[in-house]
Amino acid sequence: MRRTSIILMLCLITVAVFSQNSIRVGDDGRSMTITTRSTAYHLSMVNNEVRMVNYGNKILVERAGRPLGAEIPVRGGFANATPLLEVIFPDGVRDIELEYKSYGIINTDGYQTLQITQCDKYYPLEVISYIKVLPEYDLIEKWIEVRNTGKKGIIKIENLLSGSIYLPKDAYELTHYAGVWGNEFTPQTTKLTPGIKTVQVKDFKSYGSSSFLVRPEGETDNYTGKVWFGSIKYSGNWRIDFEKFFNGPVQVAGGMNFWDQELNLKPGNSFTTPRIVFGYTELGTEGVTHALTSYIREQLLPSSHRDKIRPVLYNSWYATTFDVNEEHQLALAKVAKDIGVEMFVIDDGWFKGRVNDKAGLGDWTVDTNKFPNGLQPMIEKINALGLDFGIWIEPEMVNPNSDLYRAHPDWVFHFPNRRRHEGRNQLILNLAREDVFQYLYQSFHKLLKENNIKFIKWDMNKQMSDPGFPSAPADEQRAVRIRYMENLYRLVETLRKEFPEVWFENCSSGGGRIDMAMNSRYDFNWTSDNTDPIDRIFIQDSYLTLFPANTMISWITHEDWHRQNHPLEFKFDVCMAGVLGIGYDITKWTDAEKDVAREKIARYREIRKTVQTGTPYRLVSPYDNNRSILQFVNREKSESIVFIYNLAEYPGNSIPENRRSTLVQLRGLTSGSRYKLEGIEGVYSGDFLMKTGIEIPLRGAYKSRIFTIKEV
Ligand code: GLA
Repeated sequence: MRRTSIILMLCLITVAVFSQNSIRVGDDGRSMTITTRSTAYHLSMVNNEVRMVNYGNKILVERAGRPLGAEIPVRGGFANATPLLEVIFPDGVRDIELEYKSYGIINTDGYQTLQITQCDKYYPLEVISYIKVLPEYDLIEKWIEVRNTGKKGIIKIENLLSGSIYLPKDAYELTHYAGVWGNEFTPQTTKLTPGIKTVQVKDFKSYGSSSFLVRPEGETDNYTGKVWFGSIKYSGNWRIDFEKFFNGPVQVAGGMNFWDQELNLKPGNSFTTPRIVFGYTELGTEGVTHALTSYIREQLLPSSHRDKIRPVLYNSWYATTFDVNEEHQLALAKVAKDIGVEMFVIDDGWFKGRVNDKAGLGDWTVDTNKFPNGLQPMIEKINALGLDFGIWIEPEMVNPNSDLYRAHPDWVFHFPNRRRHEGRNQLILNLAREDVFQYLYQSFHKLLKENNIKFIKWDMNKQMSDPGFPSAPADEQRAVRIRYMENLYRLVETLRKEFPEVWFENCSSGGGRIDMAMNSRYDFNWTSDNTDPIDRIFIQDSYLTLFPANTMISWITHEDWHRQNHPLEFKFDVCMAGVLGIGYDITKWTDAEKDVAREKIARYREIRKTVQTGTPYRLVSPYDNNRSILQFVNREKSESIVFIYNLAEYPGNSIPENRRSTLVQLRGLTSGSRYKLEGIEGVYSGDFLMKTGIEIPLRGAYKSRIFTIKEV
């Protein structure tokens, strides 16, 4: 009896585990199905070649059709897809012929991952491709490991992307995000016509994103419609090709950009690509936002701070630029504390020789002319006020006018006989070098060890140029970008491990390096140097489509990009949709201004949990309308915060938006629950608020309103 029940229990457990399996292999071992909550991805082996059959809605793609293309298309045979792998073998042969060998299901960070091994039919090249399944986010992560299994001879890798997917035959439009300094993440939509549309970065900086959305042509609804989407988890040079075949599907292939880049795989060596994330939803752009933002927030953000509420920041950059000293910083900190700030951050200008942007970068010791007692005594006074202290650094850069450069002019990227191209009077340190890595590690380890620093703003201000590493072995010279990125990640990871309580902010002259790889190592991003509230409403709308609000640092400053003199209240309301910061010279504020700040910061502290951890909804986008409306709903759906920003006011019926209803339907509430809206009479059901909606409670250009919705 006892034995029977144990067997029964084991059977039940097996069924339970099996039913949770996100990877199923057909009885003949020649077909594989990967499922997430609502998607399926089918693979099949045809003549020992691994092919992708289809990817999309779990129910609709259940019936396997004809394969759309090779899972790992390579250069070799017919050139009928964008290759993920292009190599040259030691004897000069440039074609690859892959053959399926085996599969395995492994566990990566708690998630089932399909591992498929293919080998070249003749040469010692092994290609292992991975698909990690994240069922609850409807996402998969793909990456590839390539090995030289031979005893002699180097395999030259000319191109190695992370993965691709094929979309079924249809007419499609691509939306991607591009930008420049001060105008980050501007959505761009373009038709995919036969040929290849490439979105790429050859630099280490981009003001756009590798995140993309592909939708059937003409489908623009925010809440419904098929979308294939994704993003590359890499901060260096990346590339995505969208290849539309004349009579057939679209292939999306992405990863590192092998432009002026190659890898030489020695016998016994392997290389693993960064990951590319793919997803599919039928819930329109909102489905993409929910998948990406919850994945970043719950899976990627550094685990030490992942669930912590982000502090209210003060940053001294706009108040002082390089002109910093203890007395003024303390005066700023005093007011900061008084108005409700929690983290006080000194920006650029604190280190040796840093009187302007022409000198000092690289010499990471305190400037004793400005801080004769060093930093720690000042930090202690700031701490005594009840504030944590943070500091700005730009590790990857050096000014030619610095002790570091004078001692090591060969430590920067450069080519002999060629000009060293400066940007903002600085050069890029060659972080591919171990001595550069060690110098930076020692400098920042010391800084953090000797001073009670709880926040690092990590900047990176120059574009890539002169990527030469003359003293590296010839076969490593064009791998310099890859080695740089490996060491950049290693540097921040090492410092985080040693100083686990420190917050890290990612900055690159504003939002010049924001991606999933940075989001897995830094707690937040400085979104843009452009702090104009109107411009920010646009930048933030795009940012919040792709990234969670608890990563979006937003400061109010006195900068007035368009000479509009917007009121403080309006600026605060814009910045409160993310992680609030203040960047004014607050010692000059009047009592009335301090009162506004005190009240707004107190309000932010009340609502920030829902803003930072809630589900985001973009109810009205400024790109389509004369206003922006954002909504955040907490997990329990008992509290929601709505932000309304009016950009313009037009006479009734004068423009398309004004001819439409002025009711706005809220989202994400519980239909049957009853809610009270702050400042609005009555109690409403969730159903009413989401189906009928409310009259937009705000009139007038450049006006804003924030209101709370609470379940009663
Ligand atoms: C960059 C950043 C700014 C500020 C300055 C300091 O421009 O984006 O926020 O830190 O550097 O030099």
